[in-house]
Amino acid sequence: MKKNKLLKALAVIGASVLTIGMLAGCGSVASESTETPAATEGTAEQTETPVAEEGGQYIVMGTNAEFEPFEYRDGDNIVGFDVEIAKAIAAKTGKELKIEDMSFDTLIVGLNNEQMDFIAAGMSVTEERKTQVDFSEPYFKSKQMIIVKADDDSITSAEGLVGKKVGVQLGTTGDLFVSGTDGVEVVQFDKAPLAVMDLKNGKVDAVVIDAEPAKKLVEGQSDIKVLDVPFIEEEYAIAVKKGDAELLSTINEVIKELKENGEYDKIYGQFFDSAE
Ligand code: ARG
Repeated sequence: MKKNKLLKALAVIGASVLTIGMLAGCGSVASESTETPAATEGTAEQTETPVAEEGGQYIVMGTNAEFEPFEYRDGDNIVGFDVEIAKAIAAKTGKELKIEDMSFDTLIVGLNNEQMDFIAAGMSVTEERKTQVDFSEPYFKSKQMIIVKADDDSITSAEGLVGKKVGVQLGTTGDLFVSGTDGVEVVQFDKAPLAVMDLKNGKVDAVVIDAEPAKKLVEGQSDIKVLDVPFIEEEYAIAVKKGDAELLSTINEVIKELKENGEYDKIYGQFFDSAE
């Protein structure tokens, strides 16, 4: 019964189950950053940024910079894998890249309110989101992972989350999954690093989050670990406003070019341990 509900939840977000490899890592945990506006490439405007109109100077990427290694703060800059892709998109359009950093759950609304031209935020393609935005070709394969206390033997798979308190980032596919699973108590956080802090403090029993950020969040932490369990497979894509066919085809062209000319692998090597 419980298992059925869980499988139903998996189906709801259009997911498939797969076996995943062991994750390992070392280094430092992603730290929580302040709400101070940050920008990349020397542009700092954060609010009311006009979307690059026809012939405008800027092209605006919307993101949530709490998702290392895809987008995160390094001093005053927002950097990461997605930022590199966005730079290539900007270059292709001949515009300057500007980054809008906002909470993940408001990105789609922001896009539709023209606060940005596109979303690059490690955003997974889902059927639900497809009704609200147009997605580019996928540019990254991901999966959902579970982080638990290193000494916790009670959670060994997604089924083990039933009866537990589970932290997620608000509005993410991890949130959808946990919220859609009967018997799991969901605790929604604005930022994933805060969920991990509560895990360390014993306020939640587990955190559900995408694989690469999970790796980063446990790096160098001996008291927490990422479970090696079969879980949800997802793909990241860049979102544009519904009907923005011109920008969408430019973005698809850029993704294709980056893959063909070796740039993609170069950027990959910059932010990830090894090629899949
Ligand atoms: N891939 C997940 C989703 O689409 C999480 C993305 C979170 N991204 C971020 N920049 N915080 O829901």
